[in-house]
Amino acid sequence: MGRLGSFYGSMVGKKVVMGVTGLIGIAYLILHVLGNLLVFRGPTAINSYAHFLKSTGELLWTVRIILIVAVILHVVAAVQLTQQNRAARPIGYTRREPQVATIASRTMRWGGALLLIFIIFHILHFTTGTIRPAGVFSSEDVYANMVTSFRIWWVALFYVIAMVALGLHLFHGAWSSVRSIGVSPKSPQPFHRTVSLLLAVLVWAGFTSIPVAVFVGLVR
Ligand code: HEM
Repeated sequence: MGRLGSFYGSMVGKKVVMGVTGLIGIAYLILHVLGNLLVFRGPTAINSYAHFLKSTGELLWTVRIILIVAVILHVVAAVQLTQQNRAARPIGYTRREPQVATIASRTMRWGGALLLIFIIFHILHFTTGTIRPAGVFSSEDVYANMVTSFRIWWVALFYVIAMVALGLHLFHGAWSSVRSIGVSPKSPQPFHRTVSLLLAVLVWAGFTSIPVAVFVGLVR
């Protein structure tokens, strides 16, 4: 095994991989939520933005490939870390008293699995148009795709629930990734924890506002 292989073989190596790939995801989400919020400025704003993204061709595909590789590495490292943890403690704790256990940290696995299902659904829904809850889809009219879909209660609800999982995942993930990569020192109330909370709340609120606004008729 080369140096890279033995580094990845260690728990720390996998955590670093999770941290770096997680930060790539966060960067994408910040841009994605800002782009999506253009829906509040009307069809022309968001449709021209989507058109611009598609016109970048190779750049778009480069970003897509980076994201796909990042998601695969993130999930594989998560599964392997879980297995490694279980193997290290086959009996489990009789009494578990984690030092820092928030709802966010305890829902990383289930929340992560839900997010994976969400991402697959989401791409089939808005990018390829394979899943058409409202029966219609136009690759030119992102605005119409959103408005027709989020009027349907179960679509809006699914997105709202997935965004709760996303907010929790981001809060814990953003906070622990900088620690795993080793750029932030240990501290009981570190500054980057506040930054992660703020980031998670803003991304969650931005995304959630869209299905909610359409469902209640503010965006139509
Ligand atoms: C309410 C929340 C969200 C809305 C309204 C939304 C909306 C959209 C729309 C309309 C597209 C298609 C864009 C186009 O074809 O021009 C898209 C693509 C995408 N979204 Fe979202 N999104 C949301 C949340 C998320 C989240 C939380 C993630 C990741 C965890 C995500 C990841 C993606 C990805 C990977 C694509 C494919 C991009 C591509 O084709 O290159 N989205 N989204």
